[in-house]
Amino acid sequence: MRRVRAHGKATLFGEHAVVYGHPGLALGIGGAVVARSVVPTAGRIRVSVPRLGIEADQDSPGLVGEALRRLATLLPGDRGCEVEADVSIPLGAGLGSSAAFAVLMVRAMAEVRGMAAEDARVRAVAHEVEKVFHSYPSGLDDTVATFGGLCLFRKVPWADGDVPVGVPVRPLAPDALRVALPVPPIVVGDSGVRRSTADMVAKVAGQRASDPARVDALFATMTACLWRGLDALARADHARLGEAMNACQEALAALSLSCPEADRLIALARGAGALGAKVTGAGGGGCVIALAPGREEDVREALLRDGFDAFVAGTDGVMRGRGG
Ligand code: MEV
Repeated sequence: MRRVRAHGKATLFGEHAVVYGHPGLALGIGGAVVARSVVPTAGRIRVSVPRLGIEADQDSPGLVGEALRRLATLLPGDRGCEVEADVSIPLGAGLGSSAAFAVLMVRAMAEVRGMAAEDARVRAVAHEVEKVFHSYPSGLDDTVATFGGLCLFRKVPWADGDVPVGVPVRPLAPDALRVALPVPPIVVGDSGVRRSTADMVAKVAGQRASDPARVDALFATMTACLWRGLDALARADHARLGEAMNACQEALAALSLSCPEADRLIALARGAGALGAKVTGAGGGGCVIALAPGREEDVREALLRDGFDAFVAGTDGVMRGRGG
């Protein structure tokens, strides 16, 4: 069996703004969702995550069952599969678990139906499956879940000259670029608060309907943070990258996308030496990310001491303690 896996994502900049055509920058969390086995079946599609007690098939009620039914119609062929998976990121917490699930299942189904599973196709099908969970996903999550690494995504295709000179990029798709810069491992703290992405997107849409100038100005601030952060990454200036993350957090908070638990995580992370910390993904709860190069364990331990779940994540995967 080929390795069937998908990345989680930590959005550094641009969540929500990306829905309105602004750029988003996100880091793939390596191997966040991994298939332990993929067994072909006559037609049934089933997924289980034994560690989390999750089991579903096409007949299951709820969104996972609906996603599997949608998947069956999107790929030609009759065969199904039973996938046993493991997941190393929290679910529904802003780290792209539903997109990673969609990418994993598309890759597994392509395998059993004997289809080419080039990344562009996997992403396109996963995007359709994602709609079951989020109605109108921007495409950022399925892009990162498919390609991994550091991805710069925008709904509008990129043109020459859009990305500042000095930021090394290569095209993954017309709307997605790989940024060839190393990102230090990121500390992730889980607020424990769960909100639906669709609800948070609707909340921002409501604010924009009543005060478009204010919300668009905040999106413009977030985009300026993204470009400042990318420039800082290109110069390996982590202090400036952290400042850009903090400024982005202010814009997210002004959109009511933070919450007391996330604010507490951010204060703890900064107090333990993080250069920058912010909500990541849909917000309103979910996870916070912190940049603390060389002090990741200090920050992680500060969050754990306060009773939050916390881990270190990067392109290599999730680490839950010193050395792994
Ligand atoms: C969800 O991870 C990120 C949002 O920007 C929604 C989207 O991009 O579709 C909130």
